[in-house]
Amino acid sequence: MLILGIESSCDETGIALFDTNRGLLAHEIYSQIDVHADYGGVVPELASRDHVRKTIPLIKQVMVDANVSKDEINGIAYTSGPGLVGALMVGACIGRSLAFAWGIPAVPVHHMEGHLLAPMLEDDTPEFPFIALLVSGGHTQLVEVKAIGDYQILGESIDDAAGEAFDKTAKLLGLDYPGGPMLAKLAESGTPGVYKFPRPMTDRPGLDFSFSGLKTAAANVIRSEGIVLAGSKSTQNENAPENVDQIKADIAYAFQEAVVDTIAIKCRRAVEQTGIKTLVIAGGVSANTELRGKLAKLMKKHKGQVYYPRHEFCTDNGAMIAYAGAQRLKKYGNNELLIKARPRWSI
Ligand code: KG4
Ligand code: ZN
Repeated sequence: MLILGIESSCDETGIALFDTNRGLLAHEIYSQIDVHADYGGVVPELASRDHVRKTIPLIKQVMVDANVSKDEINGIAYTSGPGLVGALMVGACIGRSLAFAWGIPAVPVHHMEGHLLAPMLEDDTPEFPFIALLVSGGHTQLVEVKAIGDYQILGESIDDAAGEAFDKTAKLLGLDYPGGPMLAKLAESGTPGVYKFPRPMTDRPGLDFSFSGLKTAAANVIRSEGIVLAGSKSTQNENAPENVDQIKADIAYAFQEAVVDTIAIKCRRAVEQTGIKTLVIAGGVSANTELRGKLAKLMKKHKGQVYYPRHEFCTDNGAMIAYAGAQRLKKYGNNELLIKARPRWSI
């Protein structure tokens, strides 16, 4: 079965062709980073317009890349939610319309299901059941995955997502959008132990997260060190200390350490609580090297194993949507006739 995947929930247009026998045949990702960079974050209207511009050309491109004609495609999977409603509508309308024209099924896919199945695109794949840590710009969740479509949320963030906290703190440090990877880079030159931030909600039982306080803690240190927080970027005033760049790196280090430690503590609890020793990490923040290292160590200690997608499939992409759509079509058949865009949708 050959499935075309369309991802358009936020600021990446991701298109891919996945074959259940031959694996991933082709994928293309177009990132809108340059479109939104001047605004310090994603502008929904601009995102929708760019998806309109890019989706059809990229579909044509993957078909050329894989040397596939429309008659060979058996279904179209599109991200149905959660995400920006205008951006979702673009992928949903194009996916559903093409499926109608080609006489094949269209499968609405949950964006986070796409993320949690992304490690299945690698050679070495996890076996069910596993625990999935979903850490993206919009979600932080621990999910018990028993089978395709059988998901139980064990815990989630009660406020900001981990990626959102990275991005907001990066903005305070004057880093460009999207700040997560930039903050991680800056942290590489930070000195351990200069600052210490809290590990939120680790002093009480449970698997929920909270990250908004960490951003406030970072903001307080930035202010007290004399680094001015102005507008969308923190700029240095004349009275800023000479070693401002080192201070920023030290703050970045402490912030990342706090996020990574907090997530690791919750993952350890999830493993102990469920007895499941396979951990999957997915979503944009799963690209973070420190997080990967810490969780690999944790699972080694528990004689378990950790799986993550290759780097380019940690963030949004069409391959994970094509894969998830193929599995859904295989398991549930085609029972979806509506065009669906669900900006808010629990997994
Ligand atoms: O999964 P994703 O591409 O989009 C959503 O579904 O939200 O995740 C994007 C998020 C952003 O917040 C970005 O800053 C964060 O993932 N991110 C990182 C890293 N790479 C991406 N955060 C920390 N360290 C990284 N290396
Ligand atoms: Zn995502």
